[in-house]
Amino acid sequence: MYVLRVTCLFILIISAFKGQHVDNSCWVSPRDHYIEVGSDTEIVCQTSCVSDRVFWTLNNIRMDDSLSNTVNSSHTVLSLRNFTLQSATLECHEAHLQQVLAGTIVTTYTKPSNISCFLHYEPQRRDGIPHLITCKWEHMITSSLSINYTVYVSSVLVTRGEICVSREKTCTTNTSGIIVINRKFNVTVIAKTTAWEAYSEPYEFIPLHILKMPRLSVNVLSLADHLKIEWNRSLQDKPCHCQVKFVKIVSSGEFETVFNETLNSKKNGRMLKEVESCTNYNIAVRCALEHAPWSEWGEEKTVLTQLNKNHIELRLWRKISKPDEYGVRNVRVMWTGIPSTCQGTFSYTLKKVSYRENASGENVTELLCSNTTCSVDVTEDAHSINLTVLLNEAVLAEDSVYVPATTESLPEPTEIQPSASDGVISVRWTAPVQPVSGYMIDWTQDGTHFNWKETKYTNMTLRDLLEKKQYNITVTALFEDKTGHGAEAPQICSSLGGPGNITVSVQANHRSANVTWVTKSEEKCSAPILTFTIVYSHPKGPMQNVTVDSTNQDVVLEDLIPATEYSLYVKAASLTGTSRSGERYFSTKRFDPRLIPGLITSSAIIIVLVIILGWCCTAQCKKKVPDPALSSLATWPPPGHQKGMCPFHDFSNSRSFCGRVYTEEMQITHSPPAARDCNANTSNEQSNNHTDPTVILSPEAQNGEPIDFQGTKCLCFGESTVLLSPENNKFNPYRSQISVDSPPQRSCKHNKHAPVKQQEKSAPVMVYVTLNMFKQGQSR
Ligand SMILES: *[C@@H]1O[C@H](CO)[C@@H](O)[C@H](O)[C@H]1NC(C)=O
Ligand SMILES: *[C@@H]1O[C@H](CO)[C@@H](O)[C@H](O)[C@H]1NC(C)=O
Ligand SMILES: *[C@@H]1O[C@H](CO)[C@@H](O)[C@H](O)[C@H]1NC(C)=O
Ligand SMILES: *[C@@H]1O[C@H](CO)[C@@H](O)[C@H](O)[C@H]1NC(C)=O
Ligand SMILES: *[C@@H]1O[C@H](CO)[C@@H](O)[C@H](O)[C@H]1NC(C)=O
Ligand SMILES: *[C@@H]1O[C@H](CO)[C@@H](O)[C@H](O)[C@H]1NC(C)=O
Ligand SMILES: *[C@@H]1O[C@H](CO)[C@@H](O)[C@H](O)[C@H]1NC(C)=O
Ligand SMILES: *[C@@H]1O[C@H](CO)[C@@H](O)[C@H](O)[C@H]1NC(C)=O
Ligand SMILES: *[C@@H]1O[C@H](CO)[C@@H](O)[C@H](O)[C@H]1NC(C)=O
Ligand SMILES: *[C@@H]1O[C@H](CO)[C@@H](O)[C@H](O)[C@H]1NC(C)=O
Ligand SMILES: *[C@@H]1O[C@H](CO)[C@@H](O)[C@H](O)[C@H]1NC(C)=O
Ligand SMILES: *[C@@H]1O[C@H](CO)[C@@H](O)[C@H](O)[C@H]1NC(C)=O
Repeated sequence: MYVLRVTCLFILIISAFKGQHVDNSCWVSPRDHYIEVGSDTEIVCQTSCVSDRVFWTLNNIRMDDSLSNTVNSSHTVLSLRNFTLQSATLECHEAHLQQVLAGTIVTTYTKPSNISCFLHYEPQRRDGIPHLITCKWEHMITSSLSINYTVYVSSVLVTRGEICVSREKTCTTNTSGIIVINRKFNVTVIAKTTAWEAYSEPYEFIPLHILKMPRLSVNVLSLADHLKIEWNRSLQDKPCHCQVKFVKIVSSGEFETVFNETLNSKKNGRMLKEVESCTNYNIAVRCALEHAPWSEWGEEKTVLTQLNKNHIELRLWRKISKPDEYGVRNVRVMWTGIPSTCQGTFSYTLKKVSYRENASGENVTELLCSNTTCSVDVTEDAHSINLTVLLNEAVLAEDSVYVPATTESLPEPTEIQPSASDGVISVRWTAPVQPVSGYMIDWTQDGTHFNWKETKYTNMTLRDLLEKKQYNITVTALFEDKTGHGAEAPQICSSLGGPGNITVSVQANHRSANVTWVTKSEEKCSAPILTFTIVYSHPKGPMQNVTVDSTNQDVVLEDLIPATEYSLYVKAASLTGTSRSGERYFSTKRFDPRLIPGLITSSAIIIVLVIILGWCCTAQCKKKVPDPALSSLATWPPPGHQKGMCPFHDFSNSRSFCGRVYTEEMQITHSPPAARDCNANTSNEQSNNHTDPTVILSPEAQNGEPIDFQGTKCLCFGESTVLLSPENNKFNPYRSQISVDSPPQRSCKHNKHAPVKQQEKSAPVMVYVTLNMFKQGQSR
């Protein structure tokens, strides 16, 4: 079995070796195949290397076997119909082992199409046979190979004559020797790469149908009421049609109008056009022969048109002020209708013509005015104000407006109701009973810029308004030859702005804060506020908020944390928007200030109690009379230094109330009664002038509500701070005892000096104080 296999393999190898000498290789032909897109092609696979059948794959997808045809034992042909893929890999496989025998890449290309050509003139040439031909074409480029295009012409003069080579999809060349103006010709474009050549279809052209006339220039003349446009055409022997383009240039943009004009042979172009007065126009012309394309637009000519008298429409109106104390009314006369772009010298004269009944004829006064407005004073009589516009001293236009007498009774419109929405104000009113010929409505937002418009209806829509401005609107009835008294509409805002600025102030307490605010708007037109929202937080907490309606101007925030800094702002909301105040910071207080009066009261009660007890104590002390022989009488300080001396030192009775007053605990708590007790007779004076820096002010005092705790600054305490040192404690459990042989300057003030303190640090000496001395000190 094994031997058989090896023999078989050997025979196979030998036969394969032998086969090389005969042609038994496998290949696919053609290699790197380029075809036109949509065309048919055949691919051959030489299969001599295998005896089995073969199959094909296209981009690794097996193709239908019906497309391949086995010609003989060594050739299989694949037929591709209408091949449209840009590029594809075709492989020939051995059917049994499915291994690839050989392959090829098929790439498609397209041919140039849509060729268009036109004949045209060199810029300086205007007539005769056109000298240039330009052709354009389309070509879908699917490969990265560089392409050269060659244009061929077939005409009566040449057969497939090459006229130009280009890398672009256009080319221009000279026509001489190629075409005859009245004979058809064919154009073919060939796209060439190193790998393939693609031929376009031949395109046939009739020279006169592709002839572009040369660019024409126009002459424009601005006459009083129209423009005269003239141009000289070329190719006089052939009829043509032309277009004249008017581009009107105004501040709001450009407006283009095109007029057609057909010219017979031997006719030049000429056009008269009525145009707008005092307007800039750019004018250009182009022409074309029948069936032929338009020439390029000729050079543009710019012209400023003259003022056409017939176009003048003076819109004259007046605003009459209330009569002053002398009965003089100021009339503001306003007009429009002369465009500001007009050239020439314009002058405006006003005549005020009084209609006084007994005046012999008309009383006329003339005024010279600026170009849009004029101010005239008139009496309370009826007047006619006549405006004359002169251009270069010739009367151009005239108009007049009536100013009724103050007392003249004329119908007026009533119930004028303005309403605003989307920046537009609509006004409607009720017509008077008497007939009117119309209404004049005028409006202003600043009293200097007026606008006015006439209507026959009892309504009007005012547009082009400024945003968020308050408008004054007046409606005046018009009659055949008169104008009435103006009726004012309620002031109205064109649109509403957001709520105004908010200023916030906060009064913080212990656990609450009173927030008050003021809203102020610079603009008259801000929408009414609907709600206020107070948003507040402390650094470690969440944002909290309180919303109140617009009637509130203050709010009390409750449940705040004492001694905490809060930030806060107020937001106002209206229909048109919101506004918010700046951020405000405040700190809640450490103590409830309401408790302080109670504290003072209770302190006072304690003081009183202590004084009473002190007197009891004194009474007790009196009973124990020390031996006068042992008392020191030598160094009694002068009366001024006595204050601060602690008069109650009874060492034999250490458990007495006096002794207990001077405990450490009491000093720490700054208990005022102790101080008072200690210096009961001098405490007032001390509290007035003591400036001991060691005194600690309570927070209440820091907050500007000083509470008189200066009584704590008792000399005894001052001393005791020194005597409290542990070494002293060893000897003396009573911290405020005063040695008699200490210097007499020892007082509240002097004890602040360091040398004195050092003396005090010396070990205390037993001292006796007589009650007589005490009495002397009291009686100073
Ligand atoms: C070739 O195929 C395209 C789309 O694949 C089709 O539009 C076109 O009609 C086909 N042409 C022919 C000649 O079958
Ligand atoms: C242009 O090509 C068309 C189609 O091939 C042919 O019929 C015609 O005779 C050609 N015209 C000229 C002027 O060569
Ligand atoms: C294209 O034309 C240029 C010169 O005009 C030439 O050098 C180049 O070989 C041409 N390319 C092909 C693909 O014909
Ligand atoms: C002018 O002629 C063109 C075509 O020639 C046409 O489309 C256009 O409507 C014409 N315009 C006027 C104003 O007649
Ligand atoms: C009126 O004259 C002023 C300055 O002389 C000018 O700026 C303005 O445009 C003129 N207005 C009109 C309507 O002519
Ligand atoms: C013309 O009117 C003015 C006041 O406007 C008056 O002072 C003057 O006397 C009048 N003149 C005549 C001739 O009536
Ligand atoms: C003023 O105008 C009125 C109305 O147009 C006219 O009747 C009157 O004659 C004019 N007066 C003058 C002096 O121009
Ligand atoms: C609008 O009219 C009111 C009185 O009706 C007047 O006080 C105010 O000055 C006028 N505003 C303007 C801008 O004319
Ligand atoms: C005025 O009202 C009439 C009908 O009442 C309406 O037809 C007209 O459009 C309105 N005009 C304006 C300017 O609003
Ligand atoms: C808050 O402050 C305002 C203004 O100072 C005051 O009118 C109001 O009564 C205060 N509210 C409270 C609850 O104290
Ligand atoms: C708010 O105040 C600023 C500056 O004070 C001001 O410019 C702005 O116009 C005010 N806004 C309103 C709505 O009043
Ligand atoms: C007010 O607080 C509520 C929840 O407590 C929150 O939903 C709301 O958005 C807050 N409003 C503002 C204006 O911050």
